[in-house]
Amino acid sequence: MSIHMKSDVLLGLQWGDEGKGKIVDFLTPQYDIIARFQGGPNAGHTIEFDGKKFVLHTIPSGIFSEKATNVIGNGVIIDPYILQKEIMELESAGADVKGRLIVSSKAHLILPSHRLLDAVYEQWKGKNKIGSTLKGIGPAYTDKVSRNGIRVGDLHNDDFNKKYEAAKSRHLKLAKLYSNDIEGVEIEGMSFDDYEKVWFGSLPALKALKHLDTAYFLNNARAEGKKILAEGAQGTMLDIDFGSYPFVTSSNTTAAGVISGLGIPPSSVGRVYGISKAYCTRVGSGPFPTELLDETGEKLRAEGREFGATTGRPRRCGWLDLPALKYAIMINGVTDLMLMKTDVLNVFDTIKVAVKYRINGKETEEIPYDLNQTDIEPVFTELPGWKQSLEGITTYEDLPESLKNYIKFVEKETKVPVTVVSTGPDRSDTIFRG
Ligand code: GDP
Ligand code: IMO
Ligand code: MG
Repeated sequence: MSIHMKSDVLLGLQWGDEGKGKIVDFLTPQYDIIARFQGGPNAGHTIEFDGKKFVLHTIPSGIFSEKATNVIGNGVIIDPYILQKEIMELESAGADVKGRLIVSSKAHLILPSHRLLDAVYEQWKGKNKIGSTLKGIGPAYTDKVSRNGIRVGDLHNDDFNKKYEAAKSRHLKLAKLYSNDIEGVEIEGMSFDDYEKVWFGSLPALKALKHLDTAYFLNNARAEGKKILAEGAQGTMLDIDFGSYPFVTSSNTTAAGVISGLGIPPSSVGRVYGISKAYCTRVGSGPFPTELLDETGEKLRAEGREFGATTGRPRRCGWLDLPALKYAIMINGVTDLMLMKTDVLNVFDTIKVAVKYRINGKETEEIPYDLNQTDIEPVFTELPGWKQSLEGITTYEDLPESLKNYIKFVEKETKVPVTVVSTGPDRSDTIFRG
């Protein structure tokens, strides 16, 4: 009888950038396979160890382990140019990317003309723009769903160029409907034509990787007793169905995305690690109930170095939002919480947490239908700060009492245990209570 191990999931509970990359890298020694299930190079997952820092966009965060296999699942969309840059950076740092990475033949490609469309759609939206990372995410997933996409497996077919030209011509027609100046659009600082050249130039790097039907690979691995960790990108509040629509990304960032993005059955999922900062951030437009537009928000940004890992944009900052966190825990069935960036709160005398929303004079813990149109006044509770450095603390017991109280408060409110407390960006600044 085969063992059929359970697969665990790690995903963001907020608006992304919770620290997923750091924790996936930290947990990798416990797993055989790390698999990305959705999103694309809109993600920026930071990993720091031994004084080095890497930001991964498409490649799973288990790539630094010599033992783990990393899988880019069918639910992910790939820009070969960005992938090639990542491979080169990792290889020059000594990681054997080709030996450790498998790509689903069913993953869709982001074409240069998807990026062009992303740019013109955002321009056209004007002040209502999403604040997209402009990586072509929306247009590439649109083509997938409208059954016009091109997949990694198509790279090996003779009609690839024909398919490419047909898609490009359709995209250019569309782009012209939205903009009179498509020649003026730059991609990665290049003209469309130049970007198209480097994009084609990067295809051999993608072709050189192992392409498989990863649903078979993953399920066979499970049958052999191998352990899989599914790595999410973005966060629950950016989910296409459950996030702050329309200010969301174009995939299911939630646990549902694991099933469709990897092809493993729901019954195979074991633990669901939900990752949250000890406060909130958001990059791009859209509603953010606990946002602080004052000097406290600036202090959070400065202390937390809150600038986007993919775009460098300043992240909007605010206090922890329990109604949103509880909602995310509900949607994902979170079994374990991971509380990140606790050290960023070291300097605050007191720490606020939103426990409810007040909408039209009524208190509620539920997220309203249209977060964007609703005037929400968060109802805060205030907890004492710890006003000390966390450097060198390696056990939960040694954490300051006020931080332990903060953690206990979050556990009591959410009814989920906090399994990881993160006290700094480095791999070693991690307290694991599992
Ligand atoms: P991801 O997209 O969820 O992987 O997160 P990002 O990498 O975009 O953003 C998280 C940022 O916070 C990165 O710069 C990390 O190095 C950093 N970081 C992660 N955990 C901690 C922590 O506990 N404390 C501090 N100060 N920084 C952290
Ligand atoms: P990681 O995996 C934070 C945001 C963008 C924008 C919206 C839509 O690093 O947590 P898109 O490019 O997907 O069309 O942008 O989603 N966004 C992210 N914000 N972290 C991310 O990924 C994000 N990926 C997309 O800023 O508001
Ligand atoms: Mg990020």
